[in-house]
Amino acid sequence: MSLSFQKRTLSVVLSPEEPLPEVDLWLVLDLLRATTTMVTFFSLGGERLYPVATPEQARELRKTLGEKVLLMGERNSLPPEGFDLGNSPRDLSEGLCQSRPEAVMTTTNGTRAVLKAAASGKPVLAASIRNASAVIRGCAPFSRTGILCAGRYGKAALDDTLGAGYLADLFRRTFPGAVLEDGASIALWSWQRQAPELEKAVRLSEHAAILEGQGFEKDISFCCTPDQTREIPRLGNKKGHLCFERNPS
Ligand code: MLT
Repeated sequence: MSLSFQKRTLSVVLSPEEPLPEVDLWLVLDLLRATTTMVTFFSLGGERLYPVATPEQARELRKTLGEKVLLMGERNSLPPEGFDLGNSPRDLSEGLCQSRPEAVMTTTNGTRAVLKAAASGKPVLAASIRNASAVIRGCAPFSRTGILCAGRYGKAALDDTLGAGYLADLFRRTFPGAVLEDGASIALWSWQRQAPELEKAVRLSEHAAILEGQGFEKDISFCCTPDQTREIPRLGNKKGHLCFERNPS
């Protein structure tokens, strides 16, 4: 007897304070900039990235893992004290990621969303626009996919909603007949209103304005550039810690 595949569905959770629906796979999206930075780290040769909630936990874990491990992330868009790097994906290079292929990372909203998705016990992939087609292909084996947007301080954010809409659009074209739940339709329709100008629309968000004001103007174009890598980092467990690992699609 062959196993029947449940109807394929896509849920989008726009605000991380919403209760999570039951799904079989989570894509976590923090377009500006945490999951874009994670994906970039792996695309440049990174091997392991440990997401943690606070700068204190990040410093402690780095102490345990060793000085060679990169300490990266942000508070108010800037590197916390003692960190090697902030959260700009453009600060990463092949040389750096290949010579220091492990990292501990904490960010205000992005890593929190990752930890929330991980608590569901379901597989978690890091999603961005730069790995959009690859991450949507990665949904194929799962009948119920959820996109968890990192948002800002618990609220929905325009940048992530547009990014989730872009992914929802790819999803429905990749899997014709898939059912989009309401959150996914909201994201899809807000993207369709602006398509094909993702970067221009993302620049209308509060978060983009903050990044522009802090000198990270070029990060926005970088985060909105589609399909630069087939890396779809997958969350697992290493030495008792949650850890993203390389996962080329
Ligand atoms: C976050 O996790 O809140 C962001 O990635 C912030 C940022 O742009 O650095």
